[in-house]
Amino acid sequence: MNFEDPRVAAVFARYAAREVADAARMRELGPAGFAVRDEFLLPVGPEVGAFLHALILAKRPRRILELGTSYGYSTLFLADAARSVGAQVVTMELADYKQRFAREQLSEAGLADVVDFRLGDAVAMIAEDAGEWDMILLDIWKELYVPCLDAFLPHLADEGIICADNIVQPVFSRPEMRLYRAAVEACPQLRTTLLPIGSGIELSVRWSADNPKL
Ligand SMILES: C[S@@+](CC[C@H](N)C(=O)[O-])C[C@H]1O[C@@H](n2cnc3c(N)ncnc32)[C@H](O)[C@@H]1O
Repeated sequence: MNFEDPRVAAVFARYAAREVADAARMRELGPAGFAVRDEFLLPVGPEVGAFLHALILAKRPRRILELGTSYGYSTLFLADAARSVGAQVVTMELADYKQRFAREQLSEAGLADVVDFRLGDAVAMIAEDAGEWDMILLDIWKELYVPCLDAFLPHLADEGIICADNIVQPVFSRPEMRLYRAAVEACPQLRTTLLPIGSGIELSVRWSADNPKL
């Protein structure tokens, strides 16, 4: 994807180079790579990034929640689009060194004002925010997908969107993904579809007959 702002494009070029280097090191490490997963970006990838960017431009959300900042790769896509539509991104991460890196990158990209970085356990921090979310990127450790869903669902706006990553890949996350998909299916207010992009995105929209906008 071509970012219009050269500062954003320059930061993205660095992420893209690290993504390639990470992939090579992961292939080298094989299953042992899981033990050092915190050293990797673990990004949503360019295809999903571009999809999220387009979704924000089209939907024009006001408040976007990102669960799992990591080193800020996906945050860059969210924040660049959010700036174009006057939205705010709240991003949550447990690791302080990852958040510090992400903050530096977003600042270099000129996007610091668009992003509210929150450090700590996302499940607890979701409960502390009483505001409504118009769009949520769920890309945290996979065993936390269901606890996060339970925590944010009461705060998902009507017509609000959840994008959950890694539904298809990696294969070893399938048991957690099956639990998440079953939990989503059990929510009558969510309309859901699986998109075969990147590692597999499940897109859910809150839609109910009680929606005052209808
Ligand atoms: C797959 S990575 C996110 C990748 C990022 N969205 C991207 O595309 O660049 C998942 C992140 O969730 C973070 N995480 C794990 N447990 C967490 C928790 N309880 N609260 C907040 N963040 C957590 C991990 O430290 C890790 O950085």
